[in-house]
Amino acid sequence: MLRNHPILAPPTDDKRWKIVETVMRRNNFQPQALIESLHSVQQTFGFLDLAAMRWVAATLRVPLAKVYGVATFYHFFTLRPPGRHTCVVCLGTACYIKGSQRLLAAVAERYHIQEGQTTTDGELSLLTARCIGACGLAPTAVVDGQVLGQRTPTELTAAVGAVLEGRAAP
Ligand code: FES
Repeated sequence: MLRNHPILAPPTDDKRWKIVETVMRRNNFQPQALIESLHSVQQTFGFLDLAAMRWVAATLRVPLAKVYGVATFYHFFTLRPPGRHTCVVCLGTACYIKGSQRLLAAVAERYHIQEGQTTTDGELSLLTARCIGACGLAPTAVVDGQVLGQRTPTELTAAVGAVLEGRAAP
């Protein structure tokens, strides 16, 4: 039976929150689902930020301090990186098969950073995710929250470049 409390609206209207919500729902919104839920955020968005932690905490009725404690204790959680912009490349199975490693390599080479790193000027963080729920668009990447599907490495680096220059991703 579902716990008797309303499902809180996710931090943004990004459809990826549905993936996380499904995990919490499957676990009946029980506090014991905390790590699995945070894992889902990490795998879907590439990192955990305060808004995500607040939402998971409120939805599972777990103190935010506990969520923060878990998020900082386990090494596989990445708190929101310092970059002003983010490029998250999906390395889930569908995207991997369609060559998402080449997307990752192209952005890494262009901006001289590795997965999980931020450029020295603090402008761009490069992250990975394990399925963002858009497998039909594989290979996918998410640049500043915008899902970009079926891009070549050159197209993705151009999109990242545009965002860094303050333009919309082409
Ligand atoms: S595997 Fe990349 S969107 Fe599903």
